[in-house]
Amino acid sequence: MQKEKVLSGIRPTGFVHLGNYFGAIRNWVNMQDEYDCYFCVVDWHSLTTHPDTRELQTSVHRLLSELLASGLDPDKCVLYIQSDVPEIAELYFYLNTMAYKGELEKTATFKDKVRQQPNNVNAALLTYPVLQAADILIHRAVNVPVGKDQEQHVEMTRNFADRFNHRYGDVFPLPKAFNYGSKLIKIISLDGGGKMSKSENQMNTLYLADDNDQIRTKLMKAKSDIVPAEKNAQKSEAVQNLFTLMSLVSGKEVTEKFESDFNNCIIRYGDMKKQLGEDMVRFMSPIRERAVAIQQDKAYLSKVIKQGKEKARASASETLLLVRKAMGVNY
Ligand code: TYM
Repeated sequence: MQKEKVLSGIRPTGFVHLGNYFGAIRNWVNMQDEYDCYFCVVDWHSLTTHPDTRELQTSVHRLLSELLASGLDPDKCVLYIQSDVPEIAELYFYLNTMAYKGELEKTATFKDKVRQQPNNVNAALLTYPVLQAADILIHRAVNVPVGKDQEQHVEMTRNFADRFNHRYGDVFPLPKAFNYGSKLIKIISLDGGGKMSKSENQMNTLYLADDNDQIRTKLMKAKSDIVPAEKNAQKSEAVQNLFTLMSLVSGKEVTEKFESDFNNCIIRYGDMKKQLGEDMVRFMSPIRERAVAIQQDKAYLSKVIKQGKEKARASASETLLLVRKAMGVNY
């Protein structure tokens, strides 16, 4: 039986953080055996917000190294760079003809970016979700493993795919956001405010590249709360985030002990954060060390990039043939 197709992408705009890792990359690694997977470093997307390209090559190499160090296996998945696949740009154009200015202006990420960079509200920023749709649809992917913040973009992709199918005939399956378990994950910032992101205060973000002391220090400084006065109280967002992180890297028994302390109003957040720091170091340091070694091996990285490009273009050009045929753009 043919495996279902999966696509996801990540921007090379800064250091990979725990939100990227637990929201997306961890799922990617787990999906490699079960699905026909395509994972893409979306360098064109990063140009919508980061026009200075002096660091781009280093960022792309570091990101690839971090993805490989996290467990992506280029023989099990197609790992490639967006700009290596010009077919995506062609599909992006076709999809632009069925994306409307009004809906693009209403997209949450666009509104955020307009606030953040009022002097660079470029056309590619407005059509960012269309390029993302092209990334997904170029392989006719059905599952898109992403964090909660990307849900709206995947929803828009479904709409564009549906419009295309109505107008020109069925070419695209309708993709959906994917997570193991029921919910999409959102890791929030260590100060308890908003999602963990590449652009915010570095002390509130845990990066895969952080050394052991930075990991411990950041977690000790993470926001907690007062000890609850009533049993089984509701957790604040910051405390819930610490428990989420603990459930991801600590043993079940450890997490249950602190849950029980919280529910019985005897939790010591200092102890919890110390334990979390040690467990996080144990979890993250092997990934960091592997990433550093891979990043130095330029020959290996070039080989991975070339192999990914060939496989991704083969799949993309098959879709483009179907698209052109359906649209009548074939003479
Ligand atoms: P990007 O590069 O911002 O993030 C990569 C992945 O990390 C997830 N993520 C989070 N998950 C949970 N908690 C957080 N705090 C957190 N921060 C980031 C994101 O949901 C994402 O899955 N537009 C995309 C890139 C993209 C893409 C695609 C994704 C381009 N084309 C096609 C999927 C399919 C983005 O900016 O991700």
